[in-house]
Amino acid sequence: MVASSLPAVLPGVGATDYARYMRTNELLALQKEPTQWVHPDELLFQIVHQSSELWLKLTRSLLSRALAHVGAGQVGAAELLVDRAAEALRLITEHLRILRSLPPAHFAVIRRALGNGSGFESPGWRLLRSATTELDIAFSRLLSSSRLTAADLYQGQPSDPLYRLAEALVEFDERIALWRAEHYTVATRVIGQGVLGTRRTPVDSLSALINHRRFPTLWEARTALTQASSQCVYPSRGQA
Ligand code: HEM
Repeated sequence: MVASSLPAVLPGVGATDYARYMRTNELLALQKEPTQWVHPDELLFQIVHQSSELWLKLTRSLLSRALAHVGAGQVGAAELLVDRAAEALRLITEHLRILRSLPPAHFAVIRRALGNGSGFESPGWRLLRSATTELDIAFSRLLSSSRLTAADLYQGQPSDPLYRLAEALVEFDERIALWRAEHYTVATRVIGQGVLGTRRTPVDSLSALINHRRFPTLWEARTALTQASSQCVYPSRGQA
């Protein structure tokens, strides 16, 4: 039996409380209308970007909440929020997959409608970068106040709350690298190699970004552990 619909009681725009709370009228008006498309695949292109921005907005909020917990020494609460933020990055990495189905000839048409707009201007990614910097500083302070270095931490128990938070941050960093690897792969599949993006950046330079680290101390501590225990290390980092 289908339940009869109940009247909308919330304030706001829309015929139902679902529409009013979720603001679906506004949300669904944020994409170009078919009459405005330069190509029908613009809807796919816009939705993947717009939904990524929403997930990044959530990610930024989770990291801000985690930052407050780190400042208050509430390590377990911070860890849970960073875990959730990493899961959001995993989801937007999955989103990129569907762009593999975007034919290069279709994107070549869409590209003309993008002006000078580029992913480098993504507010979601920009805010995420500043959020990770703040978190990195706060975590380093927390370690210092515990009279520990990252190297000390990794010599300790993996079940230690600080160790677990460090690993949540490393996981988050890895999720950024995985997004970038997927983004580079998808971008070259769609526009090819040896070409410039809309910001005139060589597409191949995106691959170098995969190795950027937002929590460098935690990676350097791993390197130091390996170097201390192994004879088989490169004379200096960066040499192939
Ligand atoms: C057909 C799909 C895509 C192509 C061909 C593409 C291509 C590119 C290119 C060539 C650049 C270098 C900058 C430039 O000159 O424009 C770039 C950067 C960037 N793009 Fe995309 N992109 C695609 C999808 C996406 C999506 C869905 C997002 C999600 C927000 C995104 C976010 C970014 C970001 C954040 C950068 C800066 C580099 C970084 O931080 O790794 N791109 N993209």
